[in-house]
Amino acid sequence: MANHVEIDGVSLHLATPDSTDGQWIGQDEVLKQLLACWLVVDKHDLPLTPRLVGPPGIGKTSLAISAAQKREQELYIYQCTSDTRPEDLLVTPVLSEKGTIKYHASPLVTAMIRGGICLLDEGNRMNEKSWASLAPLLDHRRYVESIVAGIAIHAHPDFRCSVTMNVDESTFEIPDYILSRLQPSLTLNHPNRDDELAILQYHLPFAEEDILNLTVEFLQEAHDLKLDFSTRDGINILRYSLKRLMQSKDHPLSMDEAWKEALKNCLGDEAVDLQSLAEKKNQTLGGDTVPMGLGDFFFSPEDPLHPDFDDDEDDDDDDIEF
Ligand SMILES: Nc1ncnc2c1ncn2[C@@H]1O[C@H](COP(=O)(O)OP(=O)(O)O)[C@@H](O)[C@H]1O
Ligand SMILES: [Mg+2]
Repeated sequence: MANHVEIDGVSLHLATPDSTDGQWIGQDEVLKQLLACWLVVDKHDLPLTPRLVGPPGIGKTSLAISAAQKREQELYIYQCTSDTRPEDLLVTPVLSEKGTIKYHASPLVTAMIRGGICLLDEGNRMNEKSWASLAPLLDHRRYVESIVAGIAIHAHPDFRCSVTMNVDESTFEIPDYILSRLQPSLTLNHPNRDDELAILQYHLPFAEEDILNLTVEFLQEAHDLKLDFSTRDGINILRYSLKRLMQSKDHPLSMDEAWKEALKNCLGDEAVDLQSLAEKKNQTLGGDTVPMGLGDFFFSPEDPLHPDFDDDEDDDDDDIEF
């Protein structure tokens, strides 16, 4: 593939596509939804740029990799961070050995030029200024302006984009005018038992059934209790257990011992007792408090106007008069 293109007299060095093999297992619906976003139904139609939302390790990046493979298009992944600058997203100037300036197209701009797919990974980490530089790309205009190179770059008709977003606290508030261009929002769920076993088996085909089952049981219980341990955590626990088991051939370590050690070292001692961990989490989230009614917003519970106000201290309810 040519790794240079010229736009308005400026030569751009292109990025290389991602070559990760990604098989998406189970959850057909969300894969279909993503592929639907990228369809165009008429020559006047435009593709959508969906958000892929979910906790870390649930499969957001893998879903996009696999969707790009289904469409047989090159995939370019841009890892967004809190200090991503607009030029990092678009075109960066690089000083060459000869002292001249060369312009490097980002993965995003390369995808735009080559008609590939760009995944803006962990997009919620990126600041507003960088997002602002993408506003014209994400609507019907489909172009970006590189201030650094002094050129406008128009997206190839086959260009597609998607953004993954983690639902955790360490993120920027993305302004509404950007969020309104990143629709729809596709929420990923944890896989069911059979799918999760198949995913673990796919990534660790050399693992014994017992240890795979042990891990799936653990993950499924965590999902049921709404604890955010993910498939990726399961993969890490398995990898570490298997390495410890291999090492301990001379000093036998049982599978259970190795697995428990891996669990503690990957997810912390508290992960051994999921039930108490879930209870603790509920308490800190105020899970035990009675839900508020409309009256709570206007009156304190001691206020005689509060709907639940009871001035009768002895609390017998048999004094209701009609
Ligand atoms: N449905 C799935 N099919 C195949 N692999 C999956 C699936 N869901 C999760 N995984 C695997 O779990 C791990 C975490 O997935 P990843 O896409 O990196 O998560 P995220 O981007 O949400 O943090 C990866 O190794 C990935 O291959
Ligand atoms: Mg990811």
